[in-house]
Amino acid sequence: MTVTLKLATSLDGRIATASGESRWITGEAAREAVHRLRAEHDAVVVGVETALADDPELTVRLPGYNGLQPARVVLDSRQRLSPDCKLVKTARDAPTYIIATTEPDPALVAAGVRVLTVRAVGEDRPELKTVVAALAAEGLGRLFVEGGGQVAASFVRCGLVDALEWFRAPVLIGGEGRPGLGALAVASLAAAPHFRRVEVRELGPDLWERYEKA
Ligand SMILES: NC(=O)c1ccc[n+]([C@@H]2O[C@H](COP(=O)([O-])OP(=O)(O)OC[C@H]3O[C@@H](n4cnc5c(N)ncnc54)[C@H](OP(=O)(O)O)[C@@H]3O)[C@@H](O)[C@H]2O)c1
Repeated sequence: MTVTLKLATSLDGRIATASGESRWITGEAAREAVHRLRAEHDAVVVGVETALADDPELTVRLPGYNGLQPARVVLDSRQRLSPDCKLVKTARDAPTYIIATTEPDPALVAAGVRVLTVRAVGEDRPELKTVVAALAAEGLGRLFVEGGGQVAASFVRCGLVDALEWFRAPVLIGGEGRPGLGALAVASLAAAPHFRRVEVRELGPDLWERYEKA
């Protein structure tokens, strides 16, 4: 099982403005690289706030691509995702999972969504080690976590992130913007999660930095 965390941020690590505007911080070449990365994973994982704010499809859309589509996974404790959103409407075209702490909502199940009910921890959210194991049991061992900041931080806090794919655009959003990573409860620099940079590439105006767990 591997977990790769993707961040597409401003230079100061923000993924959206205070009002939630996030499309598009990075340029076309970076977005294409993200689609190629999706194709290399079994599942793309997001938090429900991202699914609600952006109504994404989370599919691989590349010219000429006819390979497998990764599963789409939404961490959504109370199943707030609407049956009208793109992820649910396309659930029969690409596998779609909701990870909840409540019993499956019949409307979502009828739309073709697989609802996995997982043990809760903390703020009544699914316990991530159990989530990763449950997805591996579904044959989804290579996870590509695309945010948002709260979900990214939860995976880092649990020590589950093996690699970072960080796309950085030459723009500043400022402190009131939404952070790419939420609170990590780091007590000291020595205790902070460390990563080793393995590659840097230029993608038009953006930088693509790749890191592995140190
Ligand atoms: N620039 C980019 O590449 C990019 C990428 C992604 C998102 N975004 C932006 O980021 C914003 C959303 O980010 P966000 O940080 O507010 O929300 P988020 O991380 O997308 O979603 C957070 C929600 O996920 C649910 N959740 C379930 N299990 C969780 C867990 N273990 N840890 C954390 N959350 C869990 C919680 O809702 P429940 O308690 O109801 O389950 C929580 O409120 C949007 O504005 C979006 O446009 C930008």
